[in-house]
Amino acid sequence: MRKTIIAGNWKMNNTASQGVALVKAIAPLVEDAECDVVVCVPAIDIPAVGEALKGTKIALGAQNVHFAEKGAYTGEISASMLKEYGVQYVIIGHSERRQYFGETDETVNKRTLAALAAGLTPIVCIGESLEERETGKTESVLAKQIEEGFKGIEDIKKIVVAYEPIWAIGTGRTATAEQANETIGFIRRKIGEMFCPKCAENVRIQYGGSMNAGNCKELMAMPEIDGGLIGGASLKAPDFAAIVHYNK
Ligand code: PGA
Repeated sequence: MRKTIIAGNWKMNNTASQGVALVKAIAPLVEDAECDVVVCVPAIDIPAVGEALKGTKIALGAQNVHFAEKGAYTGEISASMLKEYGVQYVIIGHSERRQYFGETDETVNKRTLAALAAGLTPIVCIGESLEERETGKTESVLAKQIEEGFKGIEDIKKIVVAYEPIWAIGTGRTATAEQANETIGFIRRKIGEMFCPKCAENVRIQYGGSMNAGNCKELMAMPEIDGGLIGGASLKAPDFAAIVHYNK
């Protein structure tokens, strides 16, 4: 059985003090969570939010990590720097990073391998654009992201995959539960071909893109969907808690 994982992606929202206030509001609401709960916060919020999360059910995540251990990479943060503050998860290859910051399948792969080597759990994002979906390229785009991004991973079940169709992110336009389930099924088969079918059965694959308190139940009821990567709705404690309790 794959354990459900609900992760908030705060993106560039919340100063450290606002972040602390938010997790203090979320923590009591998710004390009884049956799934893994994670908040992926801006790097500079990590120390304060990490402190506030001690003794709660919520794990700490980052939104990016560099692939080198250290060195002349101005503005970047290494896996060991994250680890020292108790970070457990890190989002890699979010479509906003691919779109605005030149992230490629190759750099996604390097970051993923570095995160794994440091003992972090990467949440690796893949997904197609609207044009790619409308021109029937969804599967070939995802296949390439998987082939190149997941290359050289020794134990594939140590990563979490987030399927995030770009056209559904922040747009209020969610993939239908059937669409998301079908595409995640494809992703699992592809991972099975590349690694082994049994390993693919153990990889957790989230859906992301306008998931909210209203639509999470239907999405989460789908057999292939093992969780959610939540942007906008993770910024409000009651909304995020409602998603954590999708089955209640
Ligand atoms: P959204 O963002 O929930 O605001 O659509 C999801 C994401 O980008 O991870």
